[in-house]
Amino acid sequence: MTTHASVLLKDYTPPDFLVDRVTLVFDIRPEETRVTSTLTLFKNPDKSNKSSVLKMDMGDFEIQSVTLDGQNLSSNAFQADGKQFIVPDMPDRFTLETRTLLCPEKNTRLEGLYRSRGIYCTQCEAEGFRNITPFPDRPDVMARYTCTIIADKTACPVLLSNGNPVKAGDLPDNRHFVTWEDPFKKPCYLFALVAGNLSWIESPFVTRSGKHITLKIFAEPENIDKCHHAMACLKQAVKWDEERFNLEYDLDLYQIVAINDFNAGAMENKGLNIFNAKYVLADPATATDDDFMNIQRVIGHEYFHNWTGNRVTLKNWFQLSLKEGLTVFRDQEFTSDLNSRSVERISNVKTLRALQFPEDSGPMAHPVRPDAYIKMDNFYTMTVYEKGAELIRMIHQFLGETLFQQGMALYFKQFDGMAVTVEDFLSVMAQAGHMDMTQFKRWYTQSGTPTVTVTRSYDPDTRILSVTFAQHTPFDRNQSEKQPLHIPIRMGLIDPEGKDIIPEQKSLIQMRDDTHTVAFQNVPSGTLPSVFRQFSAPVKISTDLSDEELAFLMARDTDDFNRWDAAQTLFNKEIQTLVSAIARHRPLTVSQNLVQAFETALSDQSADRAFLAKALAIPQEMELANLFDCIDVDAIHAARQHLKTHLAATLTPLFLNTIDQCGHSDPESLSIQDIGNRGLRNLAISYMASLGTASVHDIVWKAFLAAENMTDEFACFKILCTTTPELKRKSAARFYDKWSHDPLVMDKWFYVQAVSPLADTLPCVKDLVTHPDFTLTNPNRVRALIYGFAMNNPVHFHEKTGNGYEFITDKILELDTINHQIAARLTGCFNHWKKYDSHRRVLMKQSLEILAASPNLSTNVYEIVSRALA
Ligand code: ARG
Ligand code: ZN
Repeated sequence: MTTHASVLLKDYTPPDFLVDRVTLVFDIRPEETRVTSTLTLFKNPDKSNKSSVLKMDMGDFEIQSVTLDGQNLSSNAFQADGKQFIVPDMPDRFTLETRTLLCPEKNTRLEGLYRSRGIYCTQCEAEGFRNITPFPDRPDVMARYTCTIIADKTACPVLLSNGNPVKAGDLPDNRHFVTWEDPFKKPCYLFALVAGNLSWIESPFVTRSGKHITLKIFAEPENIDKCHHAMACLKQAVKWDEERFNLEYDLDLYQIVAINDFNAGAMENKGLNIFNAKYVLADPATATDDDFMNIQRVIGHEYFHNWTGNRVTLKNWFQLSLKEGLTVFRDQEFTSDLNSRSVERISNVKTLRALQFPEDSGPMAHPVRPDAYIKMDNFYTMTVYEKGAELIRMIHQFLGETLFQQGMALYFKQFDGMAVTVEDFLSVMAQAGHMDMTQFKRWYTQSGTPTVTVTRSYDPDTRILSVTFAQHTPFDRNQSEKQPLHIPIRMGLIDPEGKDIIPEQKSLIQMRDDTHTVAFQNVPSGTLPSVFRQFSAPVKISTDLSDEELAFLMARDTDDFNRWDAAQTLFNKEIQTLVSAIARHRPLTVSQNLVQAFETALSDQSADRAFLAKALAIPQEMELANLFDCIDVDAIHAARQHLKTHLAATLTPLFLNTIDQCGHSDPESLSIQDIGNRGLRNLAISYMASLGTASVHDIVWKAFLAAENMTDEFACFKILCTTTPELKRKSAARFYDKWSHDPLVMDKWFYVQAVSPLADTLPCVKDLVTHPDFTLTNPNRVRALIYGFAMNNPVHFHEKTGNGYEFITDKILELDTINHQIAARLTGCFNHWKKYDSHRRVLMKQSLEILAASPNLSTNVYEIVSRALA
């Protein structure tokens, strides 16, 4: 394995040269796009020892000519090796013009300029711009851009870039051009270009100050009717940011383009967002309720970046969470304000626990602000995004909404138009909140998830209840010793009548030391602490609550998040008991306590059904895996199945009743009630199906046929694929016939089969790889089938034979010749190899070693493999 060098935060130095203006001309022809870039560069005045050597980044392309201040440079006057472009002896200020030749048609890596189903588009974050032209490709170099696109009128009637169109016209040979000018300075990662045959919808919007702006969404002509939900979400986002954050849109035009082949979810390029089609296109027939919600979230997210990311950007890539954590916090608040706050909080915490906690205890563990990377693309992680958002949420709790917003206002006042750091953000928050943030900053620099252990003691004579918190973060490769963190603990006390007995103002505890004790006076006996309400800090919580006490909190806590969490803890404890019974070949039982708590909750006619659908779902196998030091995938699967079947068998009439009562929603409505009805009904169907009888299979099959929207159709299809091979085949055939024309629905078709627990899954997945509708070049398709299998089907991926590992190892190598980012993400499926039994550990390590030994491994995959093996 050839090694690759790390980039270190401590090595950061300001750029030697800055760029004033960037003028780009793209001349697009089949298999041959010519780019002329004219840069006005000057020596960075803030640098004391100025270098005269211009070093820029460059990708693997052909340079056709270079001119310096109008003079042609011969090829020995500069160096260009496909990584760096170097010209010695530069004056203080000069104009450099380079002409490069690109072939977007052959770009399968989907970074820089590429073509997706006939549409030319760009993805420049993090370091894709260097694949277009030599440039100081770093976010602290900000410039004003003008971009002219020339292309064939028939193939590319629509030509887009950032900012406003300022000139357009026809050219000979059926060609035309449009020139775009972006009035705002930006780093090159926010540059974008789109050219192709696109349709669009548009809508006027009047901003708070009375400015008339135009919102446009572009998609392939056949998909344009599926853009209306995205447009509605965009308007909600523009309005919400004005109302809640006092932020107004700054250009006259806001454009979104839906693209089929896209490495990430979406990209916030200034005034021209490029989206994975999955986060734009929807109608009730083809998109599930979750899809609709995700579109709202991602449309919001990219829009909110216009201020948090674009107007104020990053000094270097280590600061990524400065824009991503903050923008995720903003999109979470947006979704919470517009829908159900508790349901939103629950799904965020589920993601954090299922994906970020493991990341934070594995080989990829890194601080929210990493201090080293080899390939930045590998650090678009759960830690930077989701844990990063939790850090902002903690600051928000310390300050409260009013002071937090004052801090945000200060942030824009001080740093608008600049490239800044996490310290800069913390300084405005410290100022607004009159708070010392020194200790809090450790959350950004220290990796790992702290565990907070909560213990109680009650003295019936004095009626004093003492609650003690102890924090501990295990050491890891990043820091051998962990410092105590500043942790907000939001808590309440629930008396035996279910009443909250401490006032809201006293509910926030600030923990700063290893241990912290609070004593409450005059507390009735039997009162229970309800800790970390609304999940007030991203920690693992360990309490001494008994099953009875958890059941009480599940029914009576006034904090809805903690009602849900009590149910989760009960499920978790039950699974742990079952897994250890399986290991010791003991008979499997289920505690009556859990069954009763479940029954009480499900019988509650007044309950919020969306909430119930979350509270009564047994945690996924991946979440459950976190409970064990050594993961036994088969036992976890069997335990979960046993618990599910036991509940279904014991509470059959109640489940049937739920299916019936929730069956009367408007199939096309997206109201919280209707979404809740569908969620709870489909959950009840899945419980019933676990019984495996012909009569319940019949119920599911009929529900599948009768489904009037994708939420129900998909839910039933997924369940049918867990029943029998026969029903799986039958439902897959029907689903295929109905939807083979629609790529986003076909992703669901591949996914559902990839995650099936049935015995024939691996051979079936191998078959699907050869299906005419499968391709390794489309990231969504790969994520559906290959990631689906590797990441969401633990039982089959971890098959004892090692066949699952072998299959995925082959696919990683194959993918790595096509798309490095997508291959590297997939490699993460081996990250936790040390957490399995010795047999699997050996096999997984072998896979990593095969990868390590493979010649021509990309830097992206190399980084993941080398960290996993270290
Ligand atoms: N900034 C984009 C967002 O809104 C994501 C870019 C992802 N880039 C990457 N190399 N994975 O979150
Ligand atoms: Zn983002």
